[in-house]
Amino acid sequence: MSTKRISLTQYLIEQQRGEAQIPAQLRLLIEVVARACKRIAINVNKGALGDVLGSAGSENVQGEVQKKLDVIANEVLIEANEWGGHLAGMASEEMDDMLAVPNRYPQGEYLLLFDPLDGSSNIDINVSIGTIFSVLKHQGGPVTNESFLQPGTAQVCAGYCVYGPQTTLVLTVGKGVVMFTLDREQGSWVMTEDNVRIPEDTKEFAINMSNMRHWATPVKRYIDECLAGKDGPRGKDFNMRWVAAMVADVHRIMTRGGIFMYPWDKREPNKPGKLRLMYEANPMSFLVEQAGGVATNGLQRIMEIQPTQLHERVSVMLGSRNEVDLVTRYHQELK
Ligand code: AHG
Ligand code: MN
Ligand code: MN
Repeated sequence: MSTKRISLTQYLIEQQRGEAQIPAQLRLLIEVVARACKRIAINVNKGALGDVLGSAGSENVQGEVQKKLDVIANEVLIEANEWGGHLAGMASEEMDDMLAVPNRYPQGEYLLLFDPLDGSSNIDINVSIGTIFSVLKHQGGPVTNESFLQPGTAQVCAGYCVYGPQTTLVLTVGKGVVMFTLDREQGSWVMTEDNVRIPEDTKEFAINMSNMRHWATPVKRYIDECLAGKDGPRGKDFNMRWVAAMVADVHRIMTRGGIFMYPWDKREPNKPGKLRLMYEANPMSFLVEQAGGVATNGLQRIMEIQPTQLHERVSVMLGSRNEVDLVTRYHQELK
């Protein structure tokens, strides 16, 4: 085995010692989340051999049916994080309200937000799923839901773990994006990419085309022009992918570029979109920007949105710079 392998622990210790040091509590937080993702991966891999498939028979605060793995992943993340002294509180897509760290444990400086299991509809069909997380600094005082209502620009760390053919952890602490692959024999995370860059141009888009008739004009215009291919205004043919797990779609974009969109549409006109700002859009936007990409809601940078509620939704367009800029311009022109 090569001696050049860099583990997640080594990477984090080097970051802690480096010029723009990451604090010890943040290092611990990342290690704990990574360990929790390993446990989630073990549960995911059991599939039909463990009691992990199918519905949990409950609904979350957003009225979505919870799968067993949504609940398991949520519990794994809570249990792993509540006692270490690095957190003041946690908020999750699967919990109505935030959870303050119990009094019996020391209170730390950070707030952790997560989508414990992204792409739930893929669980039972054995297609890629993931975990997404975001870290904020607690601004002091008692921890309440309001403590979490900080814009994405306040994030100090964000990441996701994709449970696919490989289990991969992708991370930013605001100094670029690094990827680690789980070595199952060793049980450790090994760095496999240390400077992820999203190409500025792409010929690949990701959107749920079945909603086309409900889209707003700028989205329809952008996709129509892509579909027109070589003979259309874009002068090139486009390819399409849709995994139905944001983690997997974003991971493809991190790897080879592309644009991902889950825009507002007319099905539920009063909701700004389907995806959640705090657990999905903000952490993914931080990662995408750190890899040289762009993330907007069509009109503004997602990370600059001031959240007003924990479970707030948002329209999302992210990925390769020139494509996201174009569809954002189409929105701004019609404003
Ligand atoms: P979750 O499983 O956490 O509820 O998220 C699913 C999200 C996102 O990951 C994905 O891009 C999108 O929902 C898929 O939605 P459609 O089924 O409408 O395509
Ligand atoms: Mn999700
Ligand atoms: Mn989820």
